[in-house]
Amino acid sequence: MRKLFIAGSTGVTGRALTGLADQRGVSIIPHVRPRPRGAPTDPRAAVLDLSDEPALAAALGDATTVVQLIGTTRKRFASGDTYETSDIATTRQLAAAAGRAGTIDHFVLLSSTGAGRPVGAYLRAKATAELVVRQSGLPFTIFRPSAFVGEGRRPPPGAATLARLLGLRKLQPIGVDELAAAILLVAGERSHLGEVLEGDSLWAVVGAA
Ligand SMILES: NC(=O)c1ccc[n+]([C@@H]2O[C@H](COP(=O)([O-])OP(=O)(O)OC[C@H]3O[C@@H](n4cnc5c(N)ncnc54)[C@H](OP(=O)(O)O)[C@@H]3O)[C@@H](O)[C@H]2O)c1
Repeated sequence: MRKLFIAGSTGVTGRALTGLADQRGVSIIPHVRPRPRGAPTDPRAAVLDLSDEPALAAALGDATTVVQLIGTTRKRFASGDTYETSDIATTRQLAAAAGRAGTIDHFVLLSSTGAGRPVGAYLRAKATAELVVRQSGLPFTIFRPSAFVGEGRRPPPGAATLARLLGLRKLQPIGVDELAAAILLVAGERSHLGEVLEGDSLWAVVGAA
């Protein structure tokens, strides 16, 4: 039996993943950061700041898998989040806690296409987060999707056509639901260990899911 600790459960991908996990009867612990707007309605939610080591250790409980979906965008910098605090620091905190926990045998990181050859601050942050996971010593799987489609997410105009015309599958936009299904497949089976899923390898998992 796998049990997934889902960091970033309140985001677009996180909500799709928690909904799908519930439909399929997969055990989860949805992580939610403390917010002034009140307590989450899900009684399973682990409400804590990821920098709180004892609280995070307790929340990981008997989880087998950390699914790291946290990230931010430049638009949200005004609210205090940055690539350093959201994308990198939370990955460091989760990887360190997972290593200490002893029960976690799979770390699934949601990164981005292009993180292998990072250009710009966003992709450099993704590359750093990937490095943190690789250096953690934990068995890992890294997802590198292109732009999301669905739940208010729209790829740049023409992106899908251009990707198709150029045959660049790694730039092909991905549905949030199909991405969530692929993550759930990999996390639920503890498969694709040590792999970076981008382009054809990602679409193969999407197809299998
Ligand atoms: N959108 C795209 O087209 C795209 C493409 C490729 C890869 N990605 C990557 O995929 C991941 C998920 O994207 P998404 O669109 O689902 O994200 P999203 O909807 O923007 O959600 C971000 C999540 O991260 C949480 N978060 C941010 N900073 C945090 C912090 N410091 N501590 C704790 N939680 C924090 C947010 O919590 P709150 O609800 O509390 O804010 C939320 O749950 C991100 O890493 C993103 O970079 C996105």
